[in-house]
Amino acid sequence: MESSSDQLKTKKVLLQYLEEHQSLFLNEWNETMIVNEIDPYKETIKENGYEMFSLVMNTIKGSLSEEVLRKLAYKIATERLEANINIGDFLYNINLGRNIMVRNTFGANLPIHDTQLFIEAINKHFDTFSYHAVTKYTNLKNDVIDEKDTFISENHKDKLAVLGQISSSFVHEFRNPLTAVMGFNKLLKKENPNLKYLDIIDYELNQLNFRITQFLHTSRADFNEEQREQISVMELIEEIQQLTYASIIDANINVEIVFFPDLYVTASRNGLKQVFLNLFMNSIDALKNKEQPRKLIVHAFTERNELVISISNNGPAIAREITESIFEPFFTTKELGTGIGLYVCKKIIESNDGYMKCVSNGDLTTFSIHFPDSKMMDD
Ligand SMILES: Nc1ncnc2c1ncn2[C@@H]1O[C@H](COP(=O)(O)OP(=O)(O)OP(=O)(O)O)[C@@H](O)[C@H]1O
Ligand SMILES: [Mg+2]
Repeated sequence: MESSSDQLKTKKVLLQYLEEHQSLFLNEWNETMIVNEIDPYKETIKENGYEMFSLVMNTIKGSLSEEVLRKLAYKIATERLEANINIGDFLYNINLGRNIMVRNTFGANLPIHDTQLFIEAINKHFDTFSYHAVTKYTNLKNDVIDEKDTFISENHKDKLAVLGQISSSFVHEFRNPLTAVMGFNKLLKKENPNLKYLDIIDYELNQLNFRITQFLHTSRADFNEEQREQISVMELIEEIQQLTYASIIDANINVEIVFFPDLYVTASRNGLKQVFLNLFMNSIDALKNKEQPRKLIVHAFTERNELVISISNNGPAIAREITESIFEPFFTTKELGTGIGLYVCKKIIESNDGYMKCVSNGDLTTFSIHFPDSKMMDD
């Protein structure tokens, strides 16, 4: 068995060898590590290397406290996060340091059996450092993400509050004259069925009415005030088809409706109408970005104690990473979109005790509305 005086001798030789070759190790580390050209801590990295080296020396001497190593790990992790380096590159650089130190320990030409203990200590040193550095780095990164999320949701809240204020004061002012004009237009059509352009006027007025109603919905904190009634889903869909008829013909879309039997749901009629109009209009927009054949499919069925109404189209799929965001207010990929359509849909359906889902793949994009079965009645 090796005597402690032998071990002390090995330690001394090793420390001396490492000390003499310090600049060689550090240069190799500096030249081979991954550093961004615009790293704000470029100079500090070298200093950190020196610091790390002297801590490794202390580990070999047996005089390093974990607290000191943890402090350095925290300092470097904070700098690396600010430098925006990714965690993979960060770990790569740490392990590079470990390999250079271990490899050079062999360079001291001491019998392997004598250096084993010190190599284990160096490895443990780097493991402890990695543990503290990665923990700190991850916590800091999570804080940044949380901060961003809070900022985004605060920002949305602010926008919604402003939108709500604008809506509630303007909507009523616009709505009353609009309702009157729509009424008179109908009357005009009845008295003069052959008068040109009345259909176009009617279509545009309906679009305007839809937009105004949409704004009204974003401003309403409580949709529950709306009266609920029993609605035939089939009838409602027919109404929506009439309202979107011009766009459907224009885009040459084949609408397929699969209902068996007709289903009834107790909900706010205006609310549901707004939802289906939004879903139809989104589908039509999506289909415009696709070659023929263009299909819009409406299904209503019961499944596992739920009434499900789904609107599908065979347009381009929604990228997986944005399917979560599309229900957020102001999220839009359209040049002229406001991004409140789906947000309003979700709010309306939830206020009627239902929920919404979106599934999109290469074949179909489907938005489905689910109501608990207490809200439905087969005819
Ligand atoms: N059927 C669909 N197919 C593909 N993408 C869709 C579909 N429906 C919605 N989207 C995506 O979700 C986004 C948000 O839709 P949403 O209806 O909330 O807003 P918008 O249509 O952009 O604007 P608007 O407020 O006028 O409705 C759209 O911009 C689009 O990227
Ligand atoms: Mg929309």
